[in-house]
Amino acid sequence: MLLECSNNAMGLWSKIKGKGTEFKGPQPVGQAIMKNLPPSEMIESCSVAGPGFVNVVLSKNWMAKNIQKMLVDGIETWAPKLRVKKAVVDFSSPNIAKEMHVGHLRSTIIGDSLARMLEFSNVEVLRRNHVGDWGTQFGMLIEYLFEKFPNSEDANETAIGELQEFYRRSKNRFDSDPAFKERAQQAVVRLQSGEPKYHEAWAQICEISRKEFDKVYKRLRVDLEEKGESFYNPYIPGVIDELSKQGLVEESQGARVIFIEGVNIPLIIVKSDGGFNYASTDLAALWYRLNEEKAEWIIYVTDVGQQLHFDMVFSAAKRAGWLSADDSTYPKASHVGFGLVLGEDGKRLRTRFSEVVRLVDLLDEAKNRSKAVLIERGKDKEWTEEELEQTAEAVGYGAAKYFDLKNNRLTNYTFSFDQMLNDKGNTAVYLLYAHARICSIIRKSGKDIEELKKTGSLVLDHADERALGLHLLHFSEVIEEALTNLLPNVVCEYLYNLSEYFTRFYSNCQVVGSAEETSRLLLCEATATVMRKCFHLLGIVPVYKI
Ligand code: ARG
Repeated sequence: MLLECSNNAMGLWSKIKGKGTEFKGPQPVGQAIMKNLPPSEMIESCSVAGPGFVNVVLSKNWMAKNIQKMLVDGIETWAPKLRVKKAVVDFSSPNIAKEMHVGHLRSTIIGDSLARMLEFSNVEVLRRNHVGDWGTQFGMLIEYLFEKFPNSEDANETAIGELQEFYRRSKNRFDSDPAFKERAQQAVVRLQSGEPKYHEAWAQICEISRKEFDKVYKRLRVDLEEKGESFYNPYIPGVIDELSKQGLVEESQGARVIFIEGVNIPLIIVKSDGGFNYASTDLAALWYRLNEEKAEWIIYVTDVGQQLHFDMVFSAAKRAGWLSADDSTYPKASHVGFGLVLGEDGKRLRTRFSEVVRLVDLLDEAKNRSKAVLIERGKDKEWTEEELEQTAEAVGYGAAKYFDLKNNRLTNYTFSFDQMLNDKGNTAVYLLYAHARICSIIRKSGKDIEELKKTGSLVLDHADERALGLHLLHFSEVIEEALTNLLPNVVCEYLYNLSEYFTRFYSNCQVVGSAEETSRLLLCEATATVMRKCFHLLGIVPVYKI
């Protein structure tokens, strides 16, 4: 029955002990804390236990009043208040003409969830797709395009077909024919000098990739704004100049580099052939985001393999004074790393679902399996075709997202359709069904819940009502914690526990037809509201009927 059990008294005691204090031990310190707590309608009672634990029991009236206020004023009033106003989330970011692998899918799901949490917290978020749309491979792709389609109008999506296949074939050409290789190298130079014909071919290739990527984003309902690597090209020379003027750039084996304390390889920002690289682009992008876009928090979502790259870029930016030296103040940059998705054989999943099409297949399968279960349960006779499709999609895609998000992002996880779509245990299927059941309790009561919110009152007398209420009231700080540590799994855990608290409440407290019906219906509605917000923050579409 306690909200807070604080061990501050013990901590304080260890600080003042032996320093001429009037207190005789942690117990009296606890007593003093208790006596000096300002009177508050929040607190029902307070006591000191054991060696100095200060236990505070929250007032059930205060709890009930706050939950009801949320029901009336909306869950937005429970949004965390952050110090930051504008953020960039750099996520998904696949590479043109290359595979959009499962790693990019993870980045898409995790990044979208973080962006949603920030947006909910009233932060303006720039959702950036930093696609790899620049580099030497374009010379080869462009040359191959010219060779296959001498007449540029013929080079459309259907003719080119699968872009990865196109990439593979042009790479073969590049590796086996020296004359082609020579032309491809020339093509890079001509592209970089802005020759229209080359620029058009490049844009054409990017457009085809973009259409493929968009299919995945559309399915997942993820919003992204593309500003690819090429966007930052014009800014690179100026940024390198600025860093050079600050004396950060040194010469090393013909390349220009920045040395980072504690790392034995330097960050190369101009290659020995004078060309720019991934790091030059990231420095320019960081500069742009801070200075042009005025973002205060810049978050990058990629696999852990890129950790060192980002550590080095951030260290360079700190040396340049772009970022605060101390990570607890803004402007700051954070790398959100994640582990691998493994197949049931324990190896990387990327061998089986490595391409764009396969990613789409993965989502299709999740949806089809959910649909089959719904049909098995006779829903095709009960519902319209549209309802069936929408529910299958919400459950299937939701399951795929939740299965990814529920793990601490740094751990590798094993992909399994059976586990992902299990309707028992910690899965989206279970949680979506739980939500739909709560909605059906409210519906079946025949009461107008909007009316009850205004006229009824919430009371938390039963221990299980109180426990559920207390968990609901933790919502805001849980979201804040998830954001502080950039860990969506914290929200999953909260959501799963919420469904457990609800189950306990529902098995021990009769709702419909009881004397407490109004209050308990309100508690059901509050639970459903918070669950829906959690689904929303995880990018999952809720279902209301099952
Ligand atoms: N395109 C990169 C990749 O596929 C990810 C880009 C991440 N963002 C960034 N600003 N470097 O690995």
